[in-house]
Amino acid sequence: MVSKTASTKAMKLSKAVKKAVGSYQKDKDMLIQILLDLQSMLGWLPREVLMEVSEQLEVPVTQVYQIASYYKAFSLTPKGRHIVKVCLGTACQVRGSPQLLNIISAMLNLKPCETSEDMRFTLETVNCLGCCAMGPVVVVDDVYHSKPSTPALRKIFETAK
Ligand code: FES
Repeated sequence: MVSKTASTKAMKLSKAVKKAVGSYQKDKDMLIQILLDLQSMLGWLPREVLMEVSEQLEVPVTQVYQIASYYKAFSLTPKGRHIVKVCLGTACQVRGSPQLLNIISAMLNLKPCETSEDMRFTLETVNCLGCCAMGPVVVVDDVYHSKPSTPALRKIFETAK
């Protein structure tokens, strides 16, 4: 027997997919855009959503999975409310981003690609953010921080609820 909570969640996801698919008149060519909308709406793409997109758009589920797993813009695992990105591009690396990553990793008790159990933070690494002169760069919720000190990082993480 399916619990009421699980059933409510499934209905919510189905409704979200219906809305996203409907806003593109079930156009199969808009699959990527539909997935982007759902990613933005839900913060990630649960398996049920991919199945539902496949069903509602009438495209093979393998095709939906292929796209969802290929592009970095999509996440197949839940993400925290705050996304912390540490740049490990060459310019940032030579300026100390690996050490910065270690500090952040210890502060948040997370390895790259992990999300805290309380869903507060997700730690990610990126290759270049296009602002190498600011390196090493850390981005927290789309705010860029140039060479943040340990106390500055502590303050950023403490204020992120
Ligand atoms: S290498 Fe970090 S911003 Fe370019």
